[in-house]
Amino acid sequence: MKENKTVFVCNQCGNISVKWKGRCPECGAWDSFEEELADRGSVKSAKAGDVAVPQKLHQLNVPEYIRKSTGISELDRVLGGGVVMGSVVLLSGEPGIGKSTLLMQMCDRLGQSGTILYVSGEESVTQLKLRADRLGIGDGDVYLLTETNTEAITEQCEKLSPDIVIIDSVQTLYSDKFTSAPGSVTQVKEAALALSVYAKKSNAAIFLVGHINKEGGISGPKTLEHMVDAVLYFEGERTQSYRIIRAIKNRYGSTNEIGVFEMGERGLTEIPNPSETMLAERPKGVSGSCAGCVMEGSRPIITEIQSLVSKTAYPSPKRTCDGFDYNRMCLLIAVLEKRMGLRFSECDVYLNVAGGLRLEEPGADLSVALSLISGMTDRVCPDDIIAFGEIGLAGEVRAVSHVEYRIKEALRLGFSRIIIPESCIGKRSPFLGKSEVKGISNIFQLLSFLSDKK
Ligand SMILES: Nc1ncnc2c1ncn2[C@@H]1O[C@H](COP(=O)(O)OP(=O)(O)OP(=O)(O)O)[C@@H](O)[C@H]1O
Ligand SMILES: [Mg+2]
Repeated sequence: MKENKTVFVCNQCGNISVKWKGRCPECGAWDSFEEELADRGSVKSAKAGDVAVPQKLHQLNVPEYIRKSTGISELDRVLGGGVVMGSVVLLSGEPGIGKSTLLMQMCDRLGQSGTILYVSGEESVTQLKLRADRLGIGDGDVYLLTETNTEAITEQCEKLSPDIVIIDSVQTLYSDKFTSAPGSVTQVKEAALALSVYAKKSNAAIFLVGHINKEGGISGPKTLEHMVDAVLYFEGERTQSYRIIRAIKNRYGSTNEIGVFEMGERGLTEIPNPSETMLAERPKGVSGSCAGCVMEGSRPIITEIQSLVSKTAYPSPKRTCDGFDYNRMCLLIAVLEKRMGLRFSECDVYLNVAGGLRLEEPGADLSVALSLISGMTDRVCPDDIIAFGEIGLAGEVRAVSHVEYRIKEALRLGFSRIIIPESCIGKRSPFLGKSEVKGISNIFQLLSFLSDKK
């Protein structure tokens, strides 16, 4: 049998060495050498017989994607309407967040209509069976396998021909071709490549669980994210029971959608109307609390923004921010200080988005500003008020998208004063003349909505 020779390549400058080196002698980068197969070129040229030929676009006759529902509608939504057969999905998230739980729950429905192979390199078959029992997984066609060798897994896949393969996790896989440890860049890359080749060939859908690194990104090479068809990220505060699944990349659907779950003893429960849940524990009559509305894909979600503004005891005031971009918060504070004369530079600011949601959309600006003004002035933002809109550096309130959806959601939840950008109320706007909708063009106008200081 031909021996697979490996070499070490610097991931910074491409310098090749037969031995691993701590520091690249060419570019000086530390810990940059990664093991790779030396004879990739010859492998390719050996297959020169079946060279691909260009094909004319309009003459191509290809079948539609086959999508299967996972039985979990929040997951289907994030995947773009179900899992596409032949695709590879990478699911990543913090340790203990619920990745294995979600995938096991998915087996319940998918196991009724097809064969599933659940490969675990982290847990024994007993552990998996106990979890399945706790989650109440039905008697579908689900096979469990504890294996970490990539070749052995693909061999089992060839024998069983499953419709769905779950790999928990890709970081535990190794191939005999390399001497490097499981989880190394080369091993992860090769395992993902072998499995995606299998997925395209067999039309099976593959779910890969991915660990995260200490910076919070997906562990392993960045190419892993390029190689797969969809990258899902499971997030949430470990201390809270809410879990949010978000698509970072999706070749078969939008990346804006999120799925919301609650973790409990019986596993993850879907939350189809997250707005109600996010507002459930909102305190009444407290300064600094304001309701806002953000679009998460096609769904408007209403959430509560809380801020605490207190006189600082430090030479430079303290600012912390949870669920909102820190730099954006600093920018909004600077705008409020400069344009409205509010002395935030003498105060500490603590901002929090309730429910563990992360607001990444400019439409959240107005509610964050209203919460900050309320916290600063100690004037309460009444419960029936909700605000959304973008704020510019001059203090102007700018238009946002999907205004109609947001207003509908706010009205559904009983808000009677909806503050929106003036420019969103056009001449033929359906909400022109609606008493609940208040258009504003400048942040100064926000003050009139706050109740008087007690
Ligand atoms: N008996 C139980 N009752 C309630 N919740 C449980 C129970 N067992 C586990 N959990 C919840 O499930 C979580 C673990 O889920 P799971 O094993 O799916 O996480 P994971 O993301 O796969 O973790 P890892 O990265 O370690 O594999 C725990 O953090 C806990 O919240
Ligand atoms: Mg797990």
